[in-house]
Amino acid sequence: MTIQDERDLAGLMKIGKICAQTLHLMLDSIKPGMTTADLDRIGADALRKTGARSAPIVMYNYPGTTCISINEEVAHAIPGRRVIQPGDVVNVDVSAELDGYIADTGASMIVPPVAEPAEKLLARTKATLDKALEIITAGAPLNQIGRVVEGEARKYGYKVLRELGGHGVGRSLHEYPRNIPNYFAPRLRTRMTEGLVFTVEPFFNMGVGKIQQGKDGWTLSSTDGSLSAQYEHTVVVTRGKPIIVTALG
Ligand code: CO
Ligand code: CO
Repeated sequence: MTIQDERDLAGLMKIGKICAQTLHLMLDSIKPGMTTADLDRIGADALRKTGARSAPIVMYNYPGTTCISINEEVAHAIPGRRVIQPGDVVNVDVSAELDGYIADTGASMIVPPVAEPAEKLLARTKATLDKALEIITAGAPLNQIGRVVEGEARKYGYKVLRELGGHGVGRSLHEYPRNIPNYFAPRLRTRMTEGLVFTVEPFFNMGVGKIQQGKDGWTLSSTDGSLSAQYEHTVVVTRGKPIIVTALG
């Protein structure tokens, strides 16, 4: 969506904060021995208290409230009986709707003990999100996000996952601009316009950078079992720095 007035901005900021708080509550609640269904329930309860609804349920009839992806799982893994283990890399992605506005945010974390390669993967993915956010301003080409993300991946020897990128959000979970690649797409001519709402979500992978969909029709996993990381914010384009809708503070 494109923000039209103060009411739009306030509505979007409200759900953005709820998504951020829910995400961080879930990350802080992760303990070895719990199932991903247990963790999802914590998120579902937090959303319910605010009156917000899971966006994947509203939009796609998703069989969970949030997406919780572990180790070889990259994204969209359905919460269930999988037990969280020490050393797991866990990604939580929360998108929710309130009063017709939708925000989307995600982050990865490691359940101790922390292995150095995984720790570096996460730190670099997060730093790359921050670096991509810096170039967002009205008039900038949308494909500069992919240029930054792909450049950072190359620098560290990671792969970007070409199938997964940012997207417009705000009134719907996935809307114009439909696909904001995490690689440089020279033919993507779209420019960022004032008030435009979209997500920035770099995914880095330590393996060959290929994914496959599971039998459940949702879970995306790396084909070689390698680890991935993702960090995601919803932003609003302004003439200056972007507004980070899903910032916690
Ligand atoms: Co997301
Ligand atoms: Co997203």
